[in-house]
Amino acid sequence: MARRKKIYEGKAKTLYEGPEPGTIVQYFKDDATAFNAEKKDVIEGKGVLNNILSEYFMTGLNNIGVPTHFIKRLNMREQLVRACEIVPLEVIVRNYAAGTMAKRLGMDEGTQLPRPIVEYCLKDDKLGDPLVTEEHIAAFGWASQQDMDDILSLALRVNDFLAGVMYGVGIKLIDFKIEIGRVYDGDFMRLIVADEISPDSCRLWDIETGQKLDKDVFRRDLGSLTDAYTEVAKRLGVLPKGATPMAKPTLIN
Ligand SMILES: Nc1ncnc2c1ncn2[C@@H]1O[C@H](COP(=O)(O)OP(=O)(O)OP(=O)(O)O)[C@@H](O)[C@H]1O
Ligand SMILES: [Mg+2]
Repeated sequence: MARRKKIYEGKAKTLYEGPEPGTIVQYFKDDATAFNAEKKDVIEGKGVLNNILSEYFMTGLNNIGVPTHFIKRLNMREQLVRACEIVPLEVIVRNYAAGTMAKRLGMDEGTQLPRPIVEYCLKDDKLGDPLVTEEHIAAFGWASQQDMDDILSLALRVNDFLAGVMYGVGIKLIDFKIEIGRVYDGDFMRLIVADEISPDSCRLWDIETGQKLDKDVFRRDLGSLTDAYTEVAKRLGVLPKGATPMAKPTLIN
């Protein structure tokens, strides 16, 4: 069998050329990184969980009419997605203060914000993904004003959907990050949700206990990351109750 072509190897995923033009296979790795890759580890089972969880959220978004790159899951670690031109911004939506925003503004983590706040960071690892304003985005041509209107509306629709889904399983959506891609249908360009939506890119707190069920468990050494992600997956019903993501085949005889 011909070896498929690797397009890109990132920190959490590897991209391969897909079977049809305009498609990409996203392979979810077990690698975890934080603080711009200063902290690194391999967390067994993380890739499997993120693949399944991203499928779950992207499918839900597609079904309610929020366009995403997701086409179908291929196996435990891979999904087929529509290839797009990534807008070089990380789009962050915050419902409660946490992380860098809490630090920057001297707020207590967990303080509810008066309304969702959308922030943009330039996707540039060398610069540590710096916060930018719409002025920078317009002046440097990273996205047009029309794009920014569409990106804001996509971000807020994703927020309403995700916050609602999480609330239904007793989880508070503190914040999340998405990436947006451009796709071309004939002469028309459209913006769609790309990359991944998973506990790697969200902050999720248990409503009752405040327990963290996201990548902060790894960033702050708060216990087992796989256990936290498995809990999210179980509550959403994407893992059978009692199953572990790494269940080994059992010999019958
Ligand atoms: N549908 C898509 N088409 C093209 N590129 C995509 C698509 N979805 C995600 N990507 C890109 O694929 C890469 C995914 O790999 P990963 O998340 O591991 O990257 P990363 O290490 O976070 O690095 P960076 O996001 O800074 O490139 C990202 O660069 C992301 O922007
Ligand atoms: Mg990434």
